[in-house]
Amino acid sequence: MNTTFLETKALFELPKNMIYLDGNSLGPLPKSAVGRVADMMTHQWGEMLITGWNKAGWMQQPVDLGNRLGRLIGAEKNHLVVGDTLSIKVYQALASALAMRPDRKVILTDSGNFPSDLYMAEGLIKSFNQGHELRVVASDEIAEHISEDVAVTLITEIDYRTGRMHDMANISSRAHAAGALTIWDLAHSAGAIEVDLAKAKADFAVGCTYKYLNGGPGSPGFIYVAPRHSDIAQPALSGWLGHAAPFAFERKYRAGPSIERMRVGTPSVIASASLESALDIWDMVEMSDVRTTSMSLSDLFINIIEASCPMLKLASPRDATLRGSQVSFYFQDGYAAIQALIARGVVGDFRAPNIMRFGFTPLYIDKGDVLAACEIIGDVMQNSLWNKPEYKVKATVT
Ligand SMILES: Cc1ncc(COP(=O)(O)O)c(C=O)c1O
Repeated sequence: MNTTFLETKALFELPKNMIYLDGNSLGPLPKSAVGRVADMMTHQWGEMLITGWNKAGWMQQPVDLGNRLGRLIGAEKNHLVVGDTLSIKVYQALASALAMRPDRKVILTDSGNFPSDLYMAEGLIKSFNQGHELRVVASDEIAEHISEDVAVTLITEIDYRTGRMHDMANISSRAHAAGALTIWDLAHSAGAIEVDLAKAKADFAVGCTYKYLNGGPGSPGFIYVAPRHSDIAQPALSGWLGHAAPFAFERKYRAGPSIERMRVGTPSVIASASLESALDIWDMVEMSDVRTTSMSLSDLFINIIEASCPMLKLASPRDATLRGSQVSFYFQDGYAAIQALIARGVVGDFRAPNIMRFGFTPLYIDKGDVLAACEIIGDVMQNSLWNKPEYKVKATVT
């Protein structure tokens, strides 16, 4: 193991008296991001103004950041770009994939997929108006439903509720054997598990940078297009920054080279500055170390919680190799229980209708944190400390 997680932990702002087990929703603040964003604003925006696009490299930044992030998920150089939001990137990947399989009308997905992916697919089908169908099957049956009418599979590799992992290499090879393309949503994979997009022969992948990657609330999404498709895939969101010559201001759209064509409009430079700080920390680590450590932390958590809290039923796969970097438990009053835990400084989250979710992020969570969290969870659950009216008031974000 080459990574020193004590060192990375010291690089995050972690409030005292808080054990943060929600990096699977929003990563914490890298300490250096405060200065980095301030510096960008003061010395780049403040002093360079419009010349910052050239002088400070703002225009090139989405591909530069994409390359740094790409190392973590096995993307080939210059085949991943950051920008927009994950939902937008789902739309882009799907539209390009459907256009590459004009004779097929089925988008195959599973019932464990994140609702936004399904909403985006339905919206796209409606506006295409070419008779496409979104076929939603049970999560563990997706491989057997890959038939010759499937244009593309749209799969979130790690289920946002349970943490169950799909077998990317196996599904990709079955899809290709049937002539279908694959889109992988890596929202809960990037920075959580080892992903090798090139080796798995993924066609498209999309994701966000605000969860495990710690880019900050609303930091950019990303899209990957395999090298074999990158000059073929047509961008449906044909914004000017995906044009081959944006500053020629031509009347007609011409798609830019390779991954550049998946850019849409002006990138968010302030958000990119905080993502840069997060990637500085990621540059220090090996994903294999992150994965090994997260599996042992989450195994430890499961063992203790199952022994001490029989009212919680494990919703995640017990086998760590089939699980992402989160552990979920079913509990009818899960919302109230999570609020009671937050009040005691253990931050997890709740996913309707009955899931309590906890993320394990070795960059800043260690064994001591897991043991301390388990003690508090045991107390709250064994003594029903969650059963108070104030913990049952639903907030906007759960
Ligand atoms: C698996 C998955 N897909 C898509 C999304 C939507 O991402 P965004 O809100 O950044 O568009 C999320 C958000 O949490 C997600 O978890």
